[in-house]
Amino acid sequence: MQPRRRLGKTNIEITPVAMGCWPVTGITSVDVTRERSEATIRAAFDAGINFFDTAYMYGYDGESEKMIGDVLGGVRDEIVIATKCGLHWENKVSVSDASPERIIAECDESLRRLNTDRVELYYLHAPDPQVPVAESAGAISELMQAGKVLAAGLSNGSVDELAEFHAACPLSAYQPHYNMLQREIEDFQLPWCVENSVSTMVYWPLMKGLLAGKLARNHQFDPKDGRQKYPMFQGDEWKKNHDFIDRLREIAGGLGRSLPELVVNWTIQRPGITSALCGAKRPEQIAETANALTWELPAEVISEIDQAIVDRGPTVSRGAV
Ligand SMILES: NC(=O)c1ccc[n+]([C@@H]2O[C@H](COP(=O)([O-])OP(=O)(O)OC[C@H]3O[C@@H](n4cnc5c(N)ncnc54)[C@H](OP(=O)(O)O)[C@@H]3O)[C@@H](O)[C@H]2O)c1
Repeated sequence: MQPRRRLGKTNIEITPVAMGCWPVTGITSVDVTRERSEATIRAAFDAGINFFDTAYMYGYDGESEKMIGDVLGGVRDEIVIATKCGLHWENKVSVSDASPERIIAECDESLRRLNTDRVELYYLHAPDPQVPVAESAGAISELMQAGKVLAAGLSNGSVDELAEFHAACPLSAYQPHYNMLQREIEDFQLPWCVENSVSTMVYWPLMKGLLAGKLARNHQFDPKDGRQKYPMFQGDEWKKNHDFIDRLREIAGGLGRSLPELVVNWTIQRPGITSALCGAKRPEQIAETANALTWELPAEVISEIDQAIVDRGPTVSRGAV
């Protein structure tokens, strides 16, 4: 197994592959059942993953946090839970409110749903345009003093927002999107995090399933599948991405590995990346992806992949928030 990594400057240790607990809510994925979702969370733990990423707004009624509490309550001390605050649902529309009062109240509710007295990592889900980042960070600092939160994180922020947060409350983690085709953070945020010993936990390592390589070129998206709104899944981008995936598939085949393993392995071997937050909605998906924990990509294969990325050319990128 690849060694665990430190969360920021804390003594908390996490696996470089984490379980992303958004798809298990079924809000943007189709064919999701509670039973399979719970089995998927359990399968992640059984595959050696100790790091679980969720949020107050994962599920219209906090289902993701509740499932983690139900499924992993018996092994609570063996896992690291990260959840997030500052975004919630109103009539199934996502609303930003990262005011200090709201953050304090959301934390208590998350702890209740998770059936625990503390979370190891608590992120501001995204800066709220109506609230200075320092004020939201101040509320998380209060939660740390109360022992309800052990470390603070920021998701979806710029370098200026990272610095503003860090000045108000020491940051341990940053959570942006990042994968082979979306590497914008390498210019500014990633170097800032390395310099400040802030861990970078990346979402969409598989580009929402695109890089798992199981969607056929002629795949017809269900109207309820949220992916089709992203440029990566449309027109010329979709075609270029499939040509790129074909090349990756050959590289993976040469190693006797699956595509998701190869893609996630490349991600966690990138300098400065601490953990890849890998979503799944079926047990066999997370079991396959978690295999990335058991081996390392040789340097010459990394170079081959890097060349394939260069040949793919610039992409039309877009984040979640
Ligand atoms: N902070 C933020 O704003 C933010 C935003 C987004 C996500 N996140 C976090 O990051 C995590 C990862 O993002 P994500 O879940 O949206 O995307 P992802 O990890 O890039 O992709 C997950 C999807 O890929 C497919 N998949 C995964 N493993 C597979 C396998 N082995 N074989 C075939 N298909 C596979 C599944 O979709 P299908 O089966 O439907 O094809 C799965 O739902 C989230 O769960 C969440 O914890 C955070």
